[in-house]
Amino acid sequence: MRKPLIAANWKMYKTPAESTAFLTSFYPLVKSNQTTEIVLCPPMTSLQALTDAARGKSVFIGAQTMHWLNEGAYTGETSPSMLTAIGATHVLVGHSERRQYFNETDTTVNLKLKSALAHGLTPIVCVGEHLNERETNLTADVLNLQVSVALEGIDPATLGPLVIAYEPVWAIGTGRTATPEIAEAAHKIIRAKIAAIAGAEVAAATRILYGGSVKPDNASALCGLEDIDGALVGGASLDPVSFSQIVINATKA
Ligand code: 13P
Repeated sequence: MRKPLIAANWKMYKTPAESTAFLTSFYPLVKSNQTTEIVLCPPMTSLQALTDAARGKSVFIGAQTMHWLNEGAYTGETSPSMLTAIGATHVLVGHSERRQYFNETDTTVNLKLKSALAHGLTPIVCVGEHLNERETNLTADVLNLQVSVALEGIDPATLGPLVIAYEPVWAIGTGRTATPEIAEAAHKIIRAKIAAIAGAEVAAATRILYGGSVKPDNASALCGLEDIDGALVGGASLDPVSFSQIVINATKA
């Protein structure tokens, strides 16, 4: 069985004080939930405060990006060992905003995925098509390419921690959620591609999250489907009550 995972991507929101205040309000609301892996991905400057505040709590803290190298002359970057040193356990890789605004490509996603796995970080690799690609029937091609380049040259035996997030770009921050049918179909494409590359066993064990305008009122319909193992939440994760409702509603019976 795949453990449900609900992750908050706070993007460029929340100072350290705002981040820890969130956890103070949020944690009592989800404390009794033992079935879901809950991950908060704050901005880099809040990571340390949150890993400290989350110690002893069943909440994991992740970064929104990282470099693939351990150190070097890369101004502004953060390395995987810097993340693990402060207690981060997860990392988003290749979010569409990183691809769109910061030139991330499938090739850098592949380098980052290899590095995250080597450092014991749980990678959440984001894939998803643009609206024009969906409208021209290219969704399957786009997803297949993103997944196959991401996994290139990686030993399937090391892919246990892999998490994929299907985030159709047209659904991010737009209020236009993919219907459960659209999301499930995309997740099936992704799982089949993983099976073709890494084998049926790895594919069956890989968690695939949905992201894009997830809210408390649609989390249950999306996360109740066979191939949807949780959610990656942007806007609705900024409020502790709303995010706690998503965690609760998404938990499969
Ligand atoms: P929204 O939930 O705001 O649409 O953002 C989704 C997202 O980008 C999560 O990574």
